[in-house]
Amino acid sequence: MSVPLFDTRTPLEPLLPALRERAAAVLDSGSYVLGPEVRAFEAELAAHLGVRHAVGVANGTDALTIALRAMGVGPGDDVVVPSFTFYASAEAIPPTGARPVFCDVDPGTFCVTPDTVRAALTPRTKAVVAVDLFGNVAPAPEIEALGVPVLCDSAQAAGSRRAGRRAGAFGTAATFSFFPSKNLGGFGDGGAIVTDDDGVAEQARVLRFHGSADKVTYEHVGYNSRLDELQAALLRVLLPHLDEWSDGRRAAERHYAEAGLGELVALPVPVEQAQPAWHLYVIRHPLAEQLGEALQRVGIGQRAYYRTPVHRQPAMRDYAPHVALPATDELARTHLAIPMSPVLDRVDAIQVVSAIREARA
Ligand SMILES: Cc1ncc(COP(=O)(O)O)c(C=O)c1O
Repeated sequence: MSVPLFDTRTPLEPLLPALRERAAAVLDSGSYVLGPEVRAFEAELAAHLGVRHAVGVANGTDALTIALRAMGVGPGDDVVVPSFTFYASAEAIPPTGARPVFCDVDPGTFCVTPDTVRAALTPRTKAVVAVDLFGNVAPAPEIEALGVPVLCDSAQAAGSRRAGRRAGAFGTAATFSFFPSKNLGGFGDGGAIVTDDDGVAEQARVLRFHGSADKVTYEHVGYNSRLDELQAALLRVLLPHLDEWSDGRRAAERHYAEAGLGELVALPVPVEQAQPAWHLYVIRHPLAEQLGEALQRVGIGQRAYYRTPVHRQPAMRDYAPHVALPATDELARTHLAIPMSPVLDRVDAIQVVSAIREARA
């Protein structure tokens, strides 16, 4: 019996008839981009998160670039961003004209902290990208207390909560990706910018459509970055199920704990007051590479996501000439994602933990 790294298919199965029906309705509608389904999804996502605005865009990377520009980031500015994250968190910064300045993370939570951000602040810092990595919830209010605006990259954290608020409801704005493997994953690319700030929302709407509010006058060099009707219609079917899937992810975490995983490897640590809906369940072990190979051999899904941190990627070297990020380098070496999904049950968890126990023996 094998356990896959993630299972996006099983939770969708009961919804397939509704998804097919909605897809057919969009095909018949003749409206395919930024139409009534997108407007309805934007309203439902904003209501779900408890924020005033959601702006659908083409993907989570564009969402970051557009959100930063809507927050006023531009040429000559610095934006602090962790290096232990998916490449896109930093890649989205240079297209604004600003420079990424890499910071370290807490090795237990994988998230930035006020201390790691403070160490990277410069006189030109205009914003911080706080990544809700693996589904944890970065401490955005504590970072805002440093006096710098925060954009939360919540691409991996749909369904997570902190102190009674949902991931996506923190910072000046937050961004989501609806890439199919995400906690709220669509059937192609998609993304959103969410915010309570009327001005940021308005600017994001203008930027996603070529920098024009009225499709006649072009005020900015913007983007063609729109959410399509098919994705929005299908995401509307999924959104009401996000909480039950998130509970499933939390149950999977409990199954791992009850099976004794914490005695074998270092477990991910929720940020204080956070209830992550883990997107990836990432453990730490000094011999992570060998552990991964051993799990692979017995059919247990595993993957090291960020063995080369972003500041060491060729395209980012000019932005990180001398930066020392010890926790990032250590995590890059020691992290390993093991199976996680809304339907990972007790039997799966016992099997994964037994395989890890045997690999270590
Ligand atoms: C943390 C993070 N930020 C940004 C992105 C970019 O999202 P997308 O692939 O939709 O452009 C992703 C996912 O791919 C991600 O995991």
